[in-house]
Amino acid sequence: MVQQSIYKNGSKNPPGPPSLPIIGCFPQMSTNPLQFLINAAREYGSVVHLGAIGPQQLYLIADPDCVKYVLQENPQNYTKGENFQDIKLVIGEGLVISEGDSWRYQRHLMQPSFHRQQIAAMVNDMTHLTDQMLERWQKKAVGAAIDVSKEMLFLTQKILLKTTLSIEADSDTTELTQAWNTIYKFLSDRLWAVIKPPISFPTPKNRQFKQAINTLRTVTDNIIQQRKQGNQTAHDILSMFMSTQDESGKGLSDRQLHDQIVGLFSAGFETSAVTLGWIWYLLSKYPTVERRLQAELVMVLAGRTPTFEDLPHLKYTKMVVQEAMRLYPGAWVYARNNLADDSIGGYHIPGGSMLLLSPFVTHRLPAFWDNPEGFDPERFTPERSVDRPRYAYFPFGGGQRQCLGDIFALTEIQLIVAMVCQRFRLNLLPEHPVECQPLLTLQTHKGILMTLEPRTELDKVSQRNTQKTLLTLNSDS
Ligand code: HEM
Repeated sequence: MVQQSIYKNGSKNPPGPPSLPIIGCFPQMSTNPLQFLINAAREYGSVVHLGAIGPQQLYLIADPDCVKYVLQENPQNYTKGENFQDIKLVIGEGLVISEGDSWRYQRHLMQPSFHRQQIAAMVNDMTHLTDQMLERWQKKAVGAAIDVSKEMLFLTQKILLKTTLSIEADSDTTELTQAWNTIYKFLSDRLWAVIKPPISFPTPKNRQFKQAINTLRTVTDNIIQQRKQGNQTAHDILSMFMSTQDESGKGLSDRQLHDQIVGLFSAGFETSAVTLGWIWYLLSKYPTVERRLQAELVMVLAGRTPTFEDLPHLKYTKMVVQEAMRLYPGAWVYARNNLADDSIGGYHIPGGSMLLLSPFVTHRLPAFWDNPEGFDPERFTPERSVDRPRYAYFPFGGGQRQCLGDIFALTEIQLIVAMVCQRFRLNLLPEHPVECQPLLTLQTHKGILMTLEPRTELDKVSQRNTQKTLLTLNSDS
């Protein structure tokens, strides 16, 4: 039953930029989607009408209270619905895109595998794989350039393969990752395409896409079958999914297991990888922040590899991660369809519309963020956060469909940031342009090329000198 709107009698139509029949604002939007959406929110306010794409009205929901209404207060009226037809071919009926009772049942069964204590048990894998990457970096020449976007993608893929399936991806080209990369590229290319030929057409790209889906399915199914036949034992997310049962003793079917695992690939490494890439970019641009971060690492870890228990003490590190996810949220936009007519923020929204929720836009609204374009981790101290509306910041979504892997992601990112910073300073190549490329996640156009500078003893001395400041910061927050 759809709940009545809290914004009763909203009958006005939301304002918005001029749009064309059938294609709405798509031409302007596809040229520079981020700037277009930011300008739309700043110019037209909390709810913006972006015209109609075909028969479907399109709206941007920018104001935190309106976002809260959609995600948390009336989620029954807002489905992921039709927006995922392409990706559905890949992840089937898994948690990420299912709805209603099917979603509720799967979430109930999967949630325990992502509890804090389960994530704590994955920390050794996360730090071990990060260490392997750092050893590889250590062998490179001082000042060697690397593309940190790619490096972070390899690392987060490896971590996900190890923690979900116990696969040791010793090269970057396992069948699974290759298949997934083909799928990701195909879906990203279609995102901003004006004409999308049906996937059933036998074009070369469509055939490649379907081949990659088959590979993904075959490899995952083989792993599941081997586990079922007892040929392998492992302590990973797949084994947790296989042993989970509902109150009647029923577990997930083979098909559901497959869809959940593939669903985790779709949600669980690209987002973390792009976040890490943006963190390295920001730290190289803001050396004062980088020095404070360093000092905290020396003070809390004194050169040790971080553990799960260290994370609550790495307060500044966490704020750096939070602030990077404010400026560059990996999941920069997502969509909902409303089942019935509704009223949001006093505006009428006809049933069957598509709503865009964009953390990238809301995270930069001047009404909620001073100097919104600046990188200032300390805006996340408790004192400065207390008056901020909950949905001024929603990098992991919210309400009942909040990201299932948020603790996994934050743990992984915090650990990687700490471990990399302990060993290297990453400097952006001065002539290398870094521009946002909003695809399925918030990528960069040409990667992020950086040079590796190993930490020196001198560094460590200067870090100790700034510890005093940090001690004050930690005791304040
Ligand atoms: C920085 C990293 C990540 C970001 C920014 C992120 C963001 C999000 C967001 C915004 C949603 C909600 C989308 C919507 O409501 O339409 C979501 C859902 C989800 N995420 Fe994440 N995510 C991240 C990492 C992960 C990881 C590491 C995993 C698993 C290992 C994961 C698993 C999921 C799943 C299963 C859902 C669907 C939940 C449901 O519908 O009940 N995510 N994520």
